[in-house]
Amino acid sequence: MIYAAIGRRLRGKTTWIYFHASKLPQRVVFDPRRQIRHRSKSFLFATTSDEIETGMDRLFTDPKFDELIIVPADDPQPVFETLCDEVRHWIELDDRRQLAVVIDEVRFVKTEVPACQWILRCSPHDTVHIFFSAHRPSDLSTDARAIIDRMILFHATQEHDLKVISDRCGSEVAEKVRTLDQFAFVEWDDGQGKAFVHDDPSKWFIALRDDEPREHRMRVVSGGRRFGTTRLFEE
Ligand SMILES: Nc1ncnc2c1ncn2[C@@H]1O[C@H](COP(=O)(O)OP(=O)(O)OP(=O)(O)O)[C@@H](O)[C@H]1O
Ligand SMILES: [Mg+2]
Repeated sequence: MIYAAIGRRLRGKTTWIYFHASKLPQRVVFDPRRQIRHRSKSFLFATTSDEIETGMDRLFTDPKFDELIIVPADDPQPVFETLCDEVRHWIELDDRRQLAVVIDEVRFVKTEVPACQWILRCSPHDTVHIFFSAHRPSDLSTDARAIIDRMILFHATQEHDLKVISDRCGSEVAEKVRTLDQFAFVEWDDGQGKAFVHDDPSKWFIALRDDEPREHRMRVVSGGRRFGTTRLFEE
């Protein structure tokens, strides 16, 4: 499955994708802003293409490790392409093995490259889950947008962004996205053409770093009713 969390700054996009990626037994996280910081010994860290190759190999062969975090030391594009090549290699070795692939801030890289196109089109739907985050729909290429299974739409106000959302998901979804509270989102299920509103952020909160107390990391959720998940459209 391919997910894209899209919306204005500081709405909890990275938090949402990391929360869901963390449910899988193993994951690889492209983290150009170095936001994920653990003290745990079960993760691996890579900054170059060579380190990614070694890291993915260790992740594959040693289940003691559950996560490879990639923070490009330099130009992010070649590092990203190596990551895509390694994910392809992983799938070719065992396409039943679960893996989450998190690409935070996709604007830093070009997804049109063959290595990324391969994983977008050929990853097994039920075992390899790809998560993107972006501030605007246009941060993802039209091609990549076209094959997203779930759009996770946080608050957006730019007219152009709302138009793209309206063209894809309908005007009712775009209007809801325009008026969302902080941290709430609309989930668009592209396969079924259905939308769901999620507005209880405590359900998907996860700390991106574990070196400060939880109460410093959680921001107060502003106003709004808290009624969990509701269907936006009637059947
Ligand atoms: N569900 C949530 N409940 C409470 N606090 C949250 C939640 N999601 C995110 N936060 C807090 O909001 C802040 C921003 O979160 P996050 O970095 O995930 O947002 P973002 O939309 O990815 O931001 P950016 O636009 O900078 O990429 C963090 O301090 C995070 O702990
Ligand atoms: Mg983010």
